[in-house]
Amino acid sequence: MDDSADFVLLKRHVEQLLKIQCSNYKEDYIKRRFLSRMRSTNTTNYSDYLKYLKSHPQETEPLRNALTINVTEFFRDKEVWDEVKNVILPSLFAQKKRISIWCAGSSTGEEPYTLAILLHDALVNHKDWSGIITATDIDEVVLAKAKAGIFEEKSIQKLPTVQVQRHFTKRPDGLYEVKPHLRELLRFRPHDLMSGVPPVRYVDLITCRNVTIYFTEKQKDDLTRMFHSALVSDGYYIMGKTEYLGRQVEDLFTPKNTAQKIFMKREKPLQPKTP
Ligand SMILES: C[S@@+](CC[C@H](N)C(=O)[O-])C[C@H]1O[C@@H](n2cnc3c(N)ncnc32)[C@H](O)[C@@H]1O
Repeated sequence: MDDSADFVLLKRHVEQLLKIQCSNYKEDYIKRRFLSRMRSTNTTNYSDYLKYLKSHPQETEPLRNALTINVTEFFRDKEVWDEVKNVILPSLFAQKKRISIWCAGSSTGEEPYTLAILLHDALVNHKDWSGIITATDIDEVVLAKAKAGIFEEKSIQKLPTVQVQRHFTKRPDGLYEVKPHLRELLRFRPHDLMSGVPPVRYVDLITCRNVTIYFTEKQKDDLTRMFHSALVSDGYYIMGKTEYLGRQVEDLFTPKNTAQKIFMKREKPLQPKTP
């Protein structure tokens, strides 16, 4: 049976509902994501799933999550990276010469390489400064892609030309490969954020952005506690723009920039005053 007309109808509805452009993704990817939601909702074809989606508003978020599962980009939410460059890195290097960064849920690498670009720019005029970024993800397929450090032109097209020339080599096949000076700052490791054990300790900065959409409130709180234990005193934690600290754990951190979701570890959590 040719279901391409039903697929187009479903795609159009989803674009309007979620305000996303399905054409940003490969068609095969979209189809696989729809199929995974069809399995979870016991619907058997695109037309049935469209009916289900229209009659079950609670299906909207799982579908959004299924479609955006590994989505990432260089300098995603530019303002937060301005803060990393202008405030966080200078404040860390004012205290020590070597820093450690953990990029948790690093997907295909755009976020850890963004950090590497900023770190490299900070190190370039200070020969006695150094740093290491540990990038982790549960999904070994995206991790391998991140480690390869090879990106399509559309991934880097928002970067200023000077940044592209400085940090990437254009290959004969038209892809862009990160230069060794960025690779040297990074190591990639598989890691499940629900394991309860951090892959690194004494970290100065943790970024964990747009990762916890599937986590329960308890899992998010446990994760916040794990990040708190992995950070040095006064270490920074950056969340995604739409994420928040749960009530149970918010006292573990001091907000540093509320709009950009930047927090600092509080060594002694606030205690409720005893009478
Ligand atoms: C939407 S991407 C976010 C990428 C990047 N942090 C950003 O904000 O652009 C979410 C990533 O989190 C990873 N992830 C989901 N659950 C995870 C878990 N339990 N442990 C580690 N990584 C996880 C996914 O594999 C995916 O690559």
